[in-house]
Amino acid sequence: MARVLSGVQPSGDLHLGNYLGAFRYWVADQHDHDALFCVVDLHAMTLDYDPALLATRTLETAESLLAVGLDPEVCTLFVQSHVPEHPRLTWLLECTATFGELRRMTQFKDKGGEQETVRAALFTYPVLMAADILLYEAERVPVGEDQRQHLELARDVAIRFNHRYGQTFVVPEAAVPKVAARVMDLQEPTRKMSKSVSSPLGTVLVLDPPEEIDRKVRKAVTDTETEVHYDPLSKPGVSNLLELLGAATGGDPAELADRYVNYGQLKADVTEALTELLRPARERFAELHADRGYVESVLAQGAAKARALAGPTLDRAMRGAGLLAPPGGFSA
Ligand code: TRP
Repeated sequence: MARVLSGVQPSGDLHLGNYLGAFRYWVADQHDHDALFCVVDLHAMTLDYDPALLATRTLETAESLLAVGLDPEVCTLFVQSHVPEHPRLTWLLECTATFGELRRMTQFKDKGGEQETVRAALFTYPVLMAADILLYEAERVPVGEDQRQHLELARDVAIRFNHRYGQTFVVPEAAVPKVAARVMDLQEPTRKMSKSVSSPLGTVLVLDPPEEIDRKVRKAVTDTETEVHYDPLSKPGVSNLLELLGAATGGDPAELADRYVNYGQLKADVTEALTELLRPARERFAELHADRGYVESVLAQGAAKARALAGPTLDRAMRGAGLLAPPGGFSA
């Protein structure tokens, strides 16, 4: 079975865009791949963050992933900081990636440009991400379009390392879903749904109760016309509602449009579809959240499995790069 690895930042509240664009694919992938999923808490430290919330968010992100259907019996779920091989390999890869390569990363330019001061780690962030991937010899890395450039960097770094020090890493391949739903913000339907955009009303959270989903969909921005058509350019709000309905029910947004003669009906059906889609996750989350011991044991087992895979890769890379091995090797 091909090895798959992906990671998510511990932002706490996962939203519908995360679920429809990524996690539902992870849930599907776990059954026919050797799949590892990582809550990348070290990556969350590259921007200003609240240390009082990081641990809770990390735990809740893991709970949400289990709630949407990751099954620890068939995949490996772990927290990045629990596996010390990640920062250790990062150093070797920082000695492999170049300043020029990192400077070209568009996400660094976007995120860094908004900050008054930029943490050095925001600049080297893609190298830590490369370490996440290369440690596990992952062949496929399911990511969104926005991560494609980081994946290219991971490939380039792996190829260069192998060339310089001998065959060490598997060169990974990005797996960007072809038909990922375009989930836009409900208040600003020309922008991707994201926690950082506009008002909280624009983002449906995976854990939103039915009343919240209803309120957000009801207030979703449409337009001053009355007819329901699928046309993302001229009718972004209505098209986004159709897109959501299609993603939740498995239908085609343009065809679904024909069923509706007004926006109210469409909104009512979107509310119902999203409520049903998310209900099992919300219920499962409540159970998991009440059983911290269980979630911690899942993460402990996940970290142990991850270390068993990462250790030998780190050891090979350290020796390959010419470092003097301590007795018992680098991963003891
Ligand atoms: N950078 C990714 C994001 O922001 C998260 C991530 C970190 C990741 N490490 C990874 C994704 C390894 C895939 C593989 O979405």
